[in-house]
Amino acid sequence: MASLTVLQAGPVVYVSLDRPLVRNAFNEELITELTTWAEAVPSDGARVAVLSGEGKTFCAGADLMWMSKMLGYSHEDNLRDAEALARMFRALNDLPLPLIGRVHGAALGGGAGLAAVCDIVVAADDAVFGFTEAKLGIIPAVISPFAIAKVGESAARELFLTGARFSAKRARRIGLVHATAAENDLDAVIDAYVRELLTSAPGAIAGAKALIAEVSGRKPADVATITARAIAQRRVSAEGQEGMRAFLEKRRPGWHAD
Ligand code: COA
Repeated sequence: MASLTVLQAGPVVYVSLDRPLVRNAFNEELITELTTWAEAVPSDGARVAVLSGEGKTFCAGADLMWMSKMLGYSHEDNLRDAEALARMFRALNDLPLPLIGRVHGAALGGGAGLAAVCDIVVAADDAVFGFTEAKLGIIPAVISPFAIAKVGESAARELFLTGARFSAKRARRIGLVHATAAENDLDAVIDAYVRELLTSAPGAIAGAKALIAEVSGRKPADVATITARAIAQRRVSAEGQEGMRAFLEKRRPGWHAD
């Protein structure tokens, strides 16, 4: 693909935004490629995906050159474009695999949105984050549900309104980032996460992820049936049976990577 590099090494897919000259800002082409990839996953035994950016920076958000051209678009054209963007974020957010974000340099605007749709974000100590849209006279609209789900309403109010850039340390404190490291050590931290994930059952991971999305923000009583059904199904599933038997037989379950 022209704007996206996808490499698979065994059960791990490495997906890299590949427009380094514009700091991996996303235009129509990158949006289409990322959506196509995300909607086709999982394939070929992939169990974990890692999202990164080529060159100096993770992602500078939407391509401002491309967006500025939208002045000539009709409202319907603009809506269609925004819907394509929303579809990309949704596809990444709903990926049935764990998605690890590798953030170096900057994650601004939609780039911070990409971090928000990752399950685990590992950021360089000196990485810069920001929901900077208001500085450009626009708003972080399409990414808002994902960003608010991660950082909460209070931080979203401050950060969406000020558009201020903030550190990886702050991003970690508010839940956008899960681990920080020197840029040279990012891959080692990610490898450790990958190893950990490969010892958990793939179907259980996908099920847990879907359950979080379904249950989040709802009252326990309102989701009691859903959660009971979910565990009842997992107990009798092949994975559930294999996992519990393997524990009792003091052996590794079949999905456990060596
Ligand atoms: N859209 C289009 N082009 C972008 C871009 C974006 N979002 N972000 C950076 N670029 C382009 C620059 O215009 C520049 O192009 P040029 O070489 O033709 O002049 C090139 O990428 C390099 O940018 P530069 O600012 O020189 O790189 P840097 O490494 O010093 O800084 C950033 C990187 C990401 C910190 C900085 O480019 C930036 O702040 N970008 C704006 C991010 C933003 O506000 N995004 C929100 C979008 S909603």
